[in-house]
Amino acid sequence: MASTEAIPGQGNQLATAGHPSGPRVEEPFALVIFGATGVLTASKLLPALFRLWRGEFLHSPFAVVGVGRRDKDDAKFREEAQRVIQARGPTDDGADAAWQQFAPSLYYHRADFTTAGCYRTLSARLEQMEQQHSLGGNRLFYLATDPDHFPFIVEQLAAARLVRREPGRPWTRVVVEKPFGKDFDSAEALDHQILGVLREEQVFRIDHYLGKETVQNILAFRFGNPIFEPLFNRQYVDHVQITMAETGGMEGRRGAYYDHAGAIRDVAQNHLLQLLALVAMEPPASLGATDIHDEKVKVLRNLVRPEGRSADEWVVRGQYGPGLANDESRPGYVEEEAVARDSSTETYVAMRAEVDTWRWAGVPFLLRTGKRLARQVTEIAVEFKRPPRRLFTATPHGGDLCDRGCHCHPVCNCCHAGEQPGTLVFRIQPDEGISLTFAAKRPGMQLVLQPVRMEFGYAHSFPQILPEAYERLLLDALRGDATLFTRSDEVAAAWEFITPILEAWEGQPAPRFPNYAAGSWGPIEADRLLSGCERGWRQP
Ligand code: BG6
Repeated sequence: MASTEAIPGQGNQLATAGHPSGPRVEEPFALVIFGATGVLTASKLLPALFRLWRGEFLHSPFAVVGVGRRDKDDAKFREEAQRVIQARGPTDDGADAAWQQFAPSLYYHRADFTTAGCYRTLSARLEQMEQQHSLGGNRLFYLATDPDHFPFIVEQLAAARLVRREPGRPWTRVVVEKPFGKDFDSAEALDHQILGVLREEQVFRIDHYLGKETVQNILAFRFGNPIFEPLFNRQYVDHVQITMAETGGMEGRRGAYYDHAGAIRDVAQNHLLQLLALVAMEPPASLGATDIHDEKVKVLRNLVRPEGRSADEWVVRGQYGPGLANDESRPGYVEEEAVARDSSTETYVAMRAEVDTWRWAGVPFLLRTGKRLARQVTEIAVEFKRPPRRLFTATPHGGDLCDRGCHCHPVCNCCHAGEQPGTLVFRIQPDEGISLTFAAKRPGMQLVLQPVRMEFGYAHSFPQILPEAYERLLLDALRGDATLFTRSDEVAAAWEFITPILEAWEGQPAPRFPNYAAGSWGPIEADRLLSGCERGWRQP
């Protein structure tokens, strides 16, 4: 197995900002988080802010105002924040002292954001804080509530004149969490409403996958290395598999949200389609937000289902039943907390799509995601075509056992398990990296080929801690850089592709769920999506 070393001083213009250097927030600001008592704020937003502050990315006075309905004050909010931040580390020597300096910037505004009164009191408090700390009036509103509240919050922010549309200083911006809408019509209505009170440049539709280091590396790999890019097309690629598999189920009260969303709205419409767009897009004219969004939207607009196939044939949905994971028994989805006992929500979805462009026409893009699957892994596998003449297929098997224990030849196609030659994998998480598997002659007197792997691993080449996605995205929103966010037309194009699937499902009788066991790789029916492809689903 080969591996890579990072070569000091050999950066290029595609290098992204990282600790400790890189762009900083130079202007004072107030960040207002709606949904301050929610899991996202505790587990991602506050730790990300603290790390940004410690990394000296926040270079001027600021205030973070959490808005929530629960009864607590600033002191309690800070105490709870300290607990979650410490739990997530790093707990180095300076962490405590740093916290003491950071904590006074956190405030809690107890108010019910589903009522107009909340915005009046918030406005008064913000003005007072802005004056007291010379914050200059720059405001970032972060919508981290249940998506059902987004329209009302936006309406009230405008009514209370908390946001202003005019360009110039001070600025106001809004970060909107996903899912953005429930389908094409609701997303369009939300967009219409938001763009009625803000300019597109003020709206930051978040998809945290875009903030992951490994996801940003897709463009760096493709367009910073001319040796690979010429292979990314229908001439060389057999198909592309994008997998986001999770071992978790409905921890805590997650089911309360998830049961109304399902895998397709929660993950496929956003994370999976964004990964697809990055792997399939043309080189952008520049690395600016507009040029990157322009290229991604072209891919999303050209997404089609395979010709002649009905929704049932190109999309497979599933729901987990009870099962075993790591030798522990897991409940089925409908037994989870806050999930309807007769729920027909899908916890798994797999689909086959095509990008109908000159570059990709006819190449299947296989997407799948699911909860309670066998492994926690997100990856993009580009499966290259086999040689046009099978020079080596006549080679004797030589008694080798493959991963599944059958006597197939290591490079033949009778068994789909294990690494196959001609596979390029972007490992988004865990074990972040990129690997290329190809066939090599096994030493010996016979001509027997064996898959071998060339590998780049972040842990090996860049041993420093990777910035968290939310860290990067918060920094960018505070700096007004929308490159790693999704633009209005991208979200619309993604919904345009997904909505017919939802409509087809609505018109069908309730599916026969559960159809896969917790701890497995999902419903067996998903295998048929790969018909005609040179390989089956990977089991990464
Ligand atoms: C979120 C989904 O967007 O992404 C969750 O709502 C999912 O259901 C999560 O678990 C996964 O994110 P990550 O960064 O852990 O892969």
